Amino acid sequence: TGLTALDYGFVNTASTQSEITYIDGEQGILRYRGFPIEQLAQHSTYLEVAWLLLYGSLPTADELGEFDERIRRHTLLHEDLKRFFSALPHTAHPMSVLSSAVSALSTFYEDSSDPHDLHDIELTMIRLLAKLPVIAAYAHKKSIGQAFLYPDNSLSFVDNFLRLNFGNMAEPYVIDPVLSKALDRLLILHEDHEQNASTSTVRLVGSTGANLYASISAGIQALSGPLHGGANEAVLQMLAQIRDSGEGVAKFVERVKRKEDGVKLMGFGHRVYKNYDPRARLVKESADEVLAGLGVNDQLLDLAKELEQIALEDDYFKERRLYPNVDFYTGVIYKAMGFPMRMFTVLFAIGRLPGWMAHWREMNLDPQTKIGRPQQLYVGEPERRYPGA
Ligand code: CMC
Repeated sequence: TGLTALDYGFVNTASTQSEITYIDGEQGILRYRGFPIEQLAQHSTYLEVAWLLLYGSLPTADELGEFDERIRRHTLLHEDLKRFFSALPHTAHPMSVLSSAVSALSTFYEDSSDPHDLHDIELTMIRLLAKLPVIAAYAHKKSIGQAFLYPDNSLSFVDNFLRLNFGNMAEPYVIDPVLSKALDRLLILHEDHEQNASTSTVRLVGSTGANLYASISAGIQALSGPLHGGANEAVLQMLAQIRDSGEGVAKFVERVKRKEDGVKLMGFGHRVYKNYDPRARLVKESADEVLAGLGVNDQLLDLAKELEQIALEDDYFKERRLYPNVDFYTGVIYKAMGFPMRMFTVLFAIGRLPGWMAHWREMNLDPQTKIGRPQQLYVGEPERRYPGA
């Protein structure tokens, strides 16, 4: 028609206006609702930032208290949903379990998931914030063959989650404040990142009028890919492979530059950041601190630093403006916390949930919203005649 601009990967096309997150990729700036990520990471909490993303301003102490209280009251999973886990193989990837269980949540709450009813939207958001960590912890427990614990609503959001993952039936769980603080901080760094692939997926699914559970379930699947959230797991696999093969960092980087078998430096590069990812800077700062605080010494952290150093000084990476992204150092910290590799992207999903919901909500409240429907340029066969027709 001549009207359609071709834009593979949506490099140039804005699909929406948004008031939630600002990124300046040239300068490495990230702000949620105007607040610099560095300040939020230092002074705020995951739930406070969730409120900020959803409603646009920092909550008062009363608002935050009520929000927290409501979330605590919705942590229990329906017993039938708990049985759903036993139908899946114990080898299932926790990201697939997470997405399937969130999708299944919609079957339990069909009568209160109207995407146009404000009361339903608020309730669904509370349910998701409360239940996603529980589902995630059960996906973990299932993968290691341990019994599911019931949530303990006297604990904070993060402590409850840690206990569900690392506690067991036989002994009381001892909270480690270093662990809680570090995890809360990492979750904040993941809370939103404007129109990335998973958020765009959530918006696209939501634009059809599908409910929030369906949209979030799709977002989790989009996040699972190694070019997106799955990169945090892929980074650790890469580091372990470099260590175990004994090939050395420099040789590995040479293979990346030759694009041998499509091998990439996982945890490097970003569509928007052409400068150091500000989240990666904060995660890197945390890594030494957290590992020391937890009394862990991991060779993989040294390897990661060596790899970063070599890459940053290399023309291939300089010319292409490739820097570490948020996923480069997180895996080393998650590992030190005791999470298995396959849980890393699940942690990213818990972090990103508020952002996904904020975008879904913003879209549903925007009178200009239309169903998402990209165009194409048809380059196939012209009209042909079926034999004998
Ligand atoms: N290692 C080696 N080369 C790379 C890398 C990398 N990690 N990333 C990009 N390049 C090269 C790419 O091959 C291309 O080179 P050439 O011009 O010779 O063809 C050039 O840099 C431009 O890359 P691109 O693929 O056009 O960039 P993109 O904006 O389409 O992709 C990306 C962005 C994040 C998918 C990509 O950088 C990548 O695959 N990185 C590794 C995976 C990763 O760490 N993903 C996490 C992203 S941040 C958090 C999140 O979204 O979850």
